[in-house]
Amino acid sequence: MSEKNVESTVVITIDGPSGSGKGTISQILATKLGYHLLDSGALYRLTALAVIKNDIPLDDIPAIEEAALHLDVVFQPSSDGSEQAILLNGENVGVQLRLDETSAMASKVAAIPQVRDALLTRQRQFRQKPGLVADGRDMGTVVFTDAKHKVFLTASPEIRADRRYKQLTEKGVNASIPHLLKSIIERDERDRTREVAPLVPAQGALEVDSTDLTIDEVVQQILDFIHDS
Ligand code: DC
Repeated sequence: MSEKNVESTVVITIDGPSGSGKGTISQILATKLGYHLLDSGALYRLTALAVIKNDIPLDDIPAIEEAALHLDVVFQPSSDGSEQAILLNGENVGVQLRLDETSAMASKVAAIPQVRDALLTRQRQFRQKPGLVADGRDMGTVVFTDAKHKVFLTASPEIRADRRYKQLTEKGVNASIPHLLKSIIERDERDRTREVAPLVPAQGALEVDSTDLTIDEVVQQILDFIHDS
């Protein structure tokens, strides 16, 4: 595909903190529009999992950068809007990616500039016709600065902890709401205040607070925004 072609491919960026509903909303939008989906958080989680599985110390930046560059990952999209399967070295790691230990490590590796650089090309390769829905923290501010439509999704920490609790227990993973709330607040703080690609709304982004909205209401607000802009 030519450079011009790639750049003319529509991108919708959905940024925001974890538990704001980004994953669900992005998946629904991608299915409705027939677009590709980039779950960029999964790339940071996969890097974290590789670090954990290979016992790489957090101060061994070159080894973590290598792990990020050479992730052997396959995303298996679903055709019915259900969650895509993610294989790391051929192993389905869907549940491991969501564990609290992986989340905490993902937030730490995401603060390493070399890791963010290592994942940049891989993320941009998802930009393919007919279009892309890109879910993350810096999709609109760093990775796809020229995206046509940018959205910033938020929700209160309490409702986000509650949503994460349901997500984990549905997968059979033990969880506690106070513990999740504490780690969400800590992770937000790290993500917002880090030097590289901090979690902030992109200029011109539609800001949606999903605390008191249903999934359908959020999807509709975004579809209206895309239609009008
Ligand atoms: O969206 P998530 O919870 O799966 O993201 C996991 C971690 O990766 C989270 O701490 C933020 C980080 N992340 C990031 O820094 N930039 C992105 N584009 C996506 C995720």
